[in-house]
Amino acid sequence: MSGLEAADRSTWMELRDPNEVVEAIGRLYDERGSSNYDEAVTQTVHALQSAELAAADGAPPPLIVAALLHDIGHLLLGEWESRPDFLDRDLHHEDVAARFLANWFGADVTEPVRLHVDAKRYLCAVDPRYAGGLSPASVRSLEVQGGPMDAAEVEAFVATGFAEPATELRRWDDLAKDVDRPVGTFRDHAPLLAALVTMPERSMP
Ligand SMILES: [Fe+2]
Ligand SMILES: [Fe+2]
Repeated sequence: MSGLEAADRSTWMELRDPNEVVEAIGRLYDERGSSNYDEAVTQTVHALQSAELAAADGAPPPLIVAALLHDIGHLLLGEWESRPDFLDRDLHHEDVAARFLANWFGADVTEPVRLHVDAKRYLCAVDPRYAGGLSPASVRSLEVQGGPMDAAEVEAFVATGFAEPATELRRWDDLAKDVDRPVGTFRDHAPLLAALVTMPERSMP
């Protein structure tokens, strides 16, 4: 649970059922999601647009949840303060998010999240039109994320077994920056989230 203060960590681990987990995640977006995601929209709007695009494309529930929560690492890392330099350094928000979400969600949620940055590097390597369509912020973050993949990296990415959902998530991610697109609320997705939460096994006191 890298990126969380010790006090926060114990709070998360005290959650007792799926509804409490979902409500706690919702509060995180309430508290930290109103900061800018990029030059256009807030973290919460970006999350909601990503999930709504996934749902509109008929994505399965775990991939809709992955789309909704793919950037939760930015919130956990405190990269939510609208600092102008927040995309200049790479704090690996995708790894932080995947480790955090693995407390309650399966690989069909966590792996597309973990791979959503690599998916951009993959698509830039295999699809020249994709690279040409990136937003200015995505071009800037691509540089600090390592640039397009080389052939060995492409092979390793495909070998994860999650290349398809990760690249699907990436394409919604790239579109979810529309200032004019109205969105619902985080709680609209609460039933879907709660249905996928598995509570961790607890050792006996
Ligand atoms: Fe991201
Ligand atoms: Fe994103």
